[in-house]
Amino acid sequence: MPSAIDSLPIILTGDRTTGPLHLGHYVGSLRSRVILQTTHKQYVLLADVQALTDNADDPGKVRRNVLEVALDYLAVGIDPNVTTICVQSALPALAELTLLYLNFVSVARLERNPTIKDEIQMRGRDIPAGFLCYPAAQAADITAFCATLVPVGEDQIPIIEQTNELVRKLNRQAGRELLPEAKAFLSKAGRLPGVDGKSKMSKSQGNAIQLSARNAEIEDAVQRMYTDPNHLRASDPGRIEGNVVFTYLDAFDPDVDAVAELKAHYRRGGLGDMALKRRLTGILQATVTPIRERRAELARDRDFVMDVLRSGTIKAREVTERTKEAVTDGLGLFKL
Ligand code: TRP
Repeated sequence: MPSAIDSLPIILTGDRTTGPLHLGHYVGSLRSRVILQTTHKQYVLLADVQALTDNADDPGKVRRNVLEVALDYLAVGIDPNVTTICVQSALPALAELTLLYLNFVSVARLERNPTIKDEIQMRGRDIPAGFLCYPAAQAADITAFCATLVPVGEDQIPIIEQTNELVRKLNRQAGRELLPEAKAFLSKAGRLPGVDGKSKMSKSQGNAIQLSARNAEIEDAVQRMYTDPNHLRASDPGRIEGNVVFTYLDAFDPDVDAVAELKAHYRRGGLGDMALKRRLTGILQATVTPIRERRAELARDRDFVMDVLRSGTIKAREVTERTKEAVTDGLGLFKL
């Protein structure tokens, strides 16, 4: 009997397995996945093959982080009973679809993708071919699950557009609607800046708060947080714009009215950075502590995590193989 979940709209999302996830991921995507899994059929892909496109010199890192990212997923509340968590390198249909799709996209089009374009500008065309082709590979990921919704950061929007271009080409070639187009789903909170106020939180920049951060690390990170450099005394009026402490309060403080009052007070003057930072420290510690503890508990039960990945990948294999068959049929390739 088909269960109710089979008729829900389909989501595919994922992360490159290059390192454990941080609060930026939590605000940008993890938090919404926990909510979306109740109203959608959600697949989450541990994108280790894609991670290799810019980490070919360190496959060990890519391998080790499959489990690390899986731990992050489970620790934040992605529930393997409703969300299918799967491993990209164990899904051969994704690679096969990628190879087919590469015939429906020109090299010039691949080079126009903003991420690829930036990389070519920095490093010249001496980039791995796998990196050049990753937008087509991601189109294969999305379409293989017949996803119509893809929760991603803003930087991934061009990839969704490119996916839909490919879908239209393939549908035209097949003469029918072989694959559905997908929509990007952007988190309302947007992108969380690093604690230094730089645009993006990133482990390699040293401005991130990990999901496994201890209370003392959180306190230290908040102490270092960029505020308003002209707000020297508590009595001075301060600026909210670009003030990282307020950006984080907006993202994490459940008491929206209290934050609005704090902003007004800060603008008027009379509210010190220390008081604000104390409030934020408490809120972040309350957010991270249960995640860190659950993560540590799960890390001791490797067998359970491996079982989750195995059964998720088996389910994903069925779905992606079916799509691959539909695409090869739709294109009218030779059948043995
Ligand atoms: N490109 C995504 C990232 O950088 C990871 C990813 C791979 C992905 N395949 C996907 C995201 C499919 C959404 C859908 O994190």
